[in-house]
Amino acid sequence: MCGIVGYIGKKPVVPILIEGLKRLEYRGYDSAGIAVYSDTGLIVQKVAGRVSRLEDLMKDQQIRSKIGIAHTRWATHGEPTDKNAHPHTDCKGRIAVVHNGIIENCNALREYLKQKGHKLRTETDTEVIAHLIEENYEGNLLKAVRIALSEVDGTYGLAVISLDHPREIVCARNGSPLVLGDGGDEFFVASDAAPIVPHTRQVVYLEDGELASITDTGFTITTLEEKEITPKIEEISWTLGQIEKEGFSSFMLKEIFEQPVTLRNAIRGRLNMTDGTARLDGLDRHHEQLERVENIVITGCGTAWHAGLIGEYMLEEMTRVPVEVEYASEFRYRSPVVDSKTILFAISQSGETTDTLAALREGKRRGATALGICNVVGSTIARATDGGVYIHAGPEIGVASTKAFTSQIMVLSLISLLMGRMRTISVDKGRGIIKAIEKIPDQVGQILELDKRIKDIAQDFYKKKNFLFLGRGYNFPVALEGALKLKEISYIHAEGYPAAEMKHGPIALIDEDMPVVFIAIRDCVFEKVLSNIEEVKSRKGVVIAITTEGDKEIESKVKYCIPIPKTIDILTPLLTVIPLQLLAYHIATLKGCDVDRPRNLAKSVTVE
Ligand code: AGP
Repeated sequence: MCGIVGYIGKKPVVPILIEGLKRLEYRGYDSAGIAVYSDTGLIVQKVAGRVSRLEDLMKDQQIRSKIGIAHTRWATHGEPTDKNAHPHTDCKGRIAVVHNGIIENCNALREYLKQKGHKLRTETDTEVIAHLIEENYEGNLLKAVRIALSEVDGTYGLAVISLDHPREIVCARNGSPLVLGDGGDEFFVASDAAPIVPHTRQVVYLEDGELASITDTGFTITTLEEKEITPKIEEISWTLGQIEKEGFSSFMLKEIFEQPVTLRNAIRGRLNMTDGTARLDGLDRHHEQLERVENIVITGCGTAWHAGLIGEYMLEEMTRVPVEVEYASEFRYRSPVVDSKTILFAISQSGETTDTLAALREGKRRGATALGICNVVGSTIARATDGGVYIHAGPEIGVASTKAFTSQIMVLSLISLLMGRMRTISVDKGRGIIKAIEKIPDQVGQILELDKRIKDIAQDFYKKKNFLFLGRGYNFPVALEGALKLKEISYIHAEGYPAAEMKHGPIALIDEDMPVVFIAIRDCVFEKVLSNIEEVKSRKGVVIAITTEGDKEIESKVKYCIPIPKTIDILTPLLTVIPLQLLAYHIATLKGCDVDRPRNLAKSVTVE
């Protein structure tokens, strides 16, 4: 996934674009570039590496331009090099394009353009768009872009400037998000609202198949078929502070420590203690389906998929409805059992993950009611569903998902409560669950106070090469999540497993160099987990255990214990994951890794 930003107005454009790219770097950061208009020609600067390298390249240049576009890249076609960085230009350097997405038919278009005499200079699919626009340009930039895109198969969020149109940016969207910003006398386009919020909260979300022409006086929106669209101005609700580090050393650490607040936000206004149930406005129109449903599918990727596994346990326990959790990338290409009696929950923090969007559409195609559990309001997945529940975690900038994960679980517990009270859960049991839910934010705050203790533990383990994470029941998916957190930010290999499964193979890995992290809290499977710990210890394995506070028995057996407060079994993942997030964070930090922008990753994967 990549980040795009464009500006037209009265201020010098370069600082605005560079600052905008910095707010988009979590979307991809292997190269960056900028194109601005000048009377003597388009100025294009681009470089492999982070936005800061581009900023250094530009800092001594006196550029007075007030219109331009810029890009930070997550490579899909072509190595991250200066040459392959965006923007890409046409043969004469009069048209510049920045693009997020994949052009599926770029090879065929390359051949066509070569036959027309175009000289392509890079390995990227994006460059093809610049030459296609050039091929179709006859004085109207918007028209040339529209014709060019009518020949393109694939996904794009793109912005175009031209030497022949000094006061116009043309942009277009199909499958990759684009947001327009209206600052009154200055206008913006970006991949998401982060670069726009410091300047204006008035935004318009482009839809798939729409193009916009942005000038000094505003923007007009039309479709590929030239149908006029009335812009729907929306107000961004979150604040600039929410996308700043606010004194923390990284967004990831900030977002870990935000969780007491974000969990309160996920709960706010959604607990009905009188009736012992949840109140979820986004599902109000679907109560009949929630009552009639015969099978549930939960789909997502990565951390969202782990949350789905926890949702499966919750929903089956509380509703007795069969639940399947599917990797979105698998679901979309197999022939799943889905019909009008199916509810499909699509979980996605960004709301832009291509595989999850495709799985959601496949489920709808087969008759399912599709409900979203998303964080970004107005995101593509949120808008593609029949309804859903926002998790209200605020912008999650750190590439490794933390606060979104716990809020996804919280929302899943509310949905389980709502559907459970339609079936087997009594009002009294429902009230008991609500009481436990209400304690969770403070309990998370208590665990965060163990940060120093967890950092000390990380000191003993950050040089290890492999880890195993083991849990049972509700905490097996947490073991998977703990392993994912560690590997994606520290690059240490880590595997999550059901604790009992360790005997069926992974136990061969156990020795003094293979730390094993157990989730060993006093739940219904504690005794079984204790046996697994003994099996590891008898093979010289070193154990780190997430335990229930006050559990003297396990503390007598395990040197590295992280005690957490007690809660009901279905809510334990909300607490057990917190120490694993901090453990991964401290190990990665001790290793000198960039926890906010881990190598090879991007915050949201909008490619297959
Ligand atoms: C989580 O730490 C990873 N960054 C990644 O697995 C992520 O959860 C996955 O790409 C899904 O993203 P989404 O929730 O935005 O759809």
